[in-house]
Amino acid sequence: MGDQIHASLRQAIVDGRLASGQRLPSGRDLATQLGVARGTIRVVYDRLIAENLVLGAGSAGTRVCARLLAGRADEESPLDGPLAGFTRPYSSAPLPFQMGVPADDAFPAKLWARLRTRAVRTDAITFTTYADPRGEPGLRAQIASYLAVSRHVQCHPDQIIVTSGYRQGLMIALTALRAHGRKAWIEEPGYPLGRRALELMGAEVEPVPVDAEGLRVEDGIASAPDALLALVSPGQHAPLGVTLSPARRHALLDWATTKNAWIIEDDYLGELQIDGRAAPALAAGEGAERVVHIGAFSKTISPALGLGFVVAPHSVAERLVEVAAVLAPAPNLTTQLAVTEFLKGGHFLRHLRRMKTLYARRRSLALDRLNAFLPGTLTAGLGLIAPLPPTANDTAVVDIARSRGLAPSALSAWYLRRSHAQQGLLLSTTNLRLDNLDAACETLARIVASMR
Ligand SMILES: Cc1ncc(COP(=O)(O)O)c(C=O)c1O
Repeated sequence: MGDQIHASLRQAIVDGRLASGQRLPSGRDLATQLGVARGTIRVVYDRLIAENLVLGAGSAGTRVCARLLAGRADEESPLDGPLAGFTRPYSSAPLPFQMGVPADDAFPAKLWARLRTRAVRTDAITFTTYADPRGEPGLRAQIASYLAVSRHVQCHPDQIIVTSGYRQGLMIALTALRAHGRKAWIEEPGYPLGRRALELMGAEVEPVPVDAEGLRVEDGIASAPDALLALVSPGQHAPLGVTLSPARRHALLDWATTKNAWIIEDDYLGELQIDGRAAPALAAGEGAERVVHIGAFSKTISPALGLGFVVAPHSVAERLVEVAAVLAPAPNLTTQLAVTEFLKGGHFLRHLRRMKTLYARRRSLALDRLNAFLPGTLTAGLGLIAPLPPTANDTAVVDIARSRGLAPSALSAWYLRRSHAQQGLLLSTTNLRLDNLDAACETLARIVASMR
């Protein structure tokens, strides 16, 4: 047993899983945990000390030696591969043009810290019971009010399931609707993670083109009339920013109603829209019985929260709740309580109002600046699209830009059919401030020019 424990600790240290300086458990704790005598652990630790892998530091405990591990921290994990390019960089301050992240300098950090501290105290009182897997009733009630006021969705709080964000909502919906082996319309171009979610769930994806009026519903009906569902972003299409026209909206709801198909509405921006007023959600009004509405606070507050919600139509509400309860219960209670107060106190709508003004200003300045360098740059949702000629390689531009501290995204990666893909750069402007705007735009333009 001692040899086995020694080999496993040794390997973990050599591989860097036990980080340099990390404290090993006390001999007594580890012995109890593994069900061996304390003497066995003492011998194991002595061997590791003799091999210069750990240091015995008296009352400071036994720690992993530092020098062995230099250089390991920066190595890319082989498991990072499949996601590279969509959502990276993770966990660093947002880079200029990085999509999907709100303004770093405008987050109400002090208020959030106060609400969270209060929530931690409340949470501590009920810390040893199971929380409602659908999410806190108070939060679900607040979300129902927000949806009624801002998205014209009339639903009961019991139709709402709190999730860890859009992705969890999608997983719950696809599982409950039994998407495996069935056809699903996706927008072409469309959000790559949405498409990948369908593929992982075993659905057969059917790309349906998007034009200036949004999803070309007639093309979907022509190519896959019997699809189980359509995954769409009708409010502000991701990534082109177009709103589904009234005629197409009607056609989509009509198809779903006639065919008993489902519409999964990705309402990731909610009412956070720069141009004009946001159109009511598809889940508002006639046809709503066929719509599973998914929202998230990832753009409207922060992706760091990890919080979103699903509105389930009555006929499938029980199935969705069951999937949530069994496979994906609502996340961390503290965050839910703090967000409840954020909504209840009116901070959320105030924050959205401020962000709309700020993002409009930043997008407009960036558009002016970029059009001088990259003529033809257009607005798209909260950001811009700089189209590139068909002979360009947007992925190569993105790679070089990353090495210069910029994070544009490649439009071509949002197409399923790469041979039909348009080349272009998706540019979020939420983190372009007066002090980094010029440099970011000039650097990007220079990179594009150098590739011509
Ligand atoms: C189209 C689209 N939907 C949804 C989301 C939000 O996803 P999540 O809440 O899982 O972070 C994003 C984020 O980038 C997005 O681009």
